Amino acid sequence: MPYGIERATVIGAGTMGAAIAGHLANAGIPVTLLDIVPTELTPEEEAAGLTLEHPQVRNRIVRAGFERMVNASPSNLFSKALAARIELGNVEDDWERAVGRSDWIIEAIVERPGPKQALMARLDATAPATAIISSNTSGIPIHILAQDRSPEFKRRFLGTHFFNPPRYLHLLEVIPHGETDPAVVNRMRQFAENVLGKGVVVCKDTPNFIANRLLTFIQCDILEYAIQEGYTVEEVDLLTGTLLGRPRTATFRLNDVIGLDVLVLVTENLYPMIPHDEEREILRAPLGSAVLKTLLAHDLLGAKRGQGFYKTVVDEQGNKH
Ligand code: NAI
Repeated sequence: MPYGIERATVIGAGTMGAAIAGHLANAGIPVTLLDIVPTELTPEEEAAGLTLEHPQVRNRIVRAGFERMVNASPSNLFSKALAARIELGNVEDDWERAVGRSDWIIEAIVERPGPKQALMARLDATAPATAIISSNTSGIPIHILAQDRSPEFKRRFLGTHFFNPPRYLHLLEVIPHGETDPAVVNRMRQFAENVLGKGVVVCKDTPNFIANRLLTFIQCDILEYAIQEGYTVEEVDLLTGTLLGRPRTATFRLNDVIGLDVLVLVTENLYPMIPHDEEREILRAPLGSAVLKTLLAHDLLGAKRGQGFYKTVVDEQGNKH
């Protein structure tokens, strides 16, 4: 394989990590997908006499993310058989085996600086010296994730921000921080364009980069405006989706696809980084929205839970709408 990327590890098997692994499999790259180990048994596991040490329990979270990705509609995979290119594991038992043989390690865990920085420290200590390491963060500045890392880590670390769903959305934002080696940026750009079929934009390391800097404000502004003015979710989506020729990415549908918890985290992270009060005020909408708070309190996080602003409907062919 040109560009020296023959095997990858994706850490975090949620909406994005699992789908990125799926797209790597589409492109012929074998990949290991890792997630955390559960700390509690489900009632079903308890009834079956399983313990927290059982491999089935230890890989429950990664398996759930993988299965959601494989069964999603529209499909993340060119064909379901390609799922065989994805190995599953967890960050306790399988880290060395996965990370140790990877040429590219992609972080796609929860959108909080602390856990991401802890993961980068572990990668700094254990990843092969030649591996590229990247974060799929929606907007945490890459230099903040590189803080306190070795010069060797910083040289080969950058942001690779995929859009949801990665199989279908062409854009990939590649974000070097001040100390990323330009040769690494160039290698990633060429690999993404030629192997993953992406349209790459190299962005500056500013909060939320380019696309999400705009999108976050649009989503927040409509959320505030629509609810204050008494519009319904369906009316807003008709106006911002179907009538504009983008039915799947209308405002509230898109919030469900992103994940309402992720939307709130992205907004919370961006809020203190925006210097102008007036601009910043727009970001208060999801942070103060009673509707969002209610959905979050009931764990109705969007597509990943089967319900958010919309109740997901599955038709006879198994397609979700
Ligand atoms: P998610 O909440 O669906 O999944 C996150 C996964 O990471 C969960 O399975 C969780 O168990 C796992 N995780 C948490 N801490 C971990 C750790 N220390 N080690 C290993 N696994 C861990 O989140 P989602 O939506 O997949 O987002 C992942 C990243 O991608 C975030 O940085 C997010 O901002 C970014 N992103 C999200 C997009 C979206 O539309 N949801 C689009 C583009 C980027």
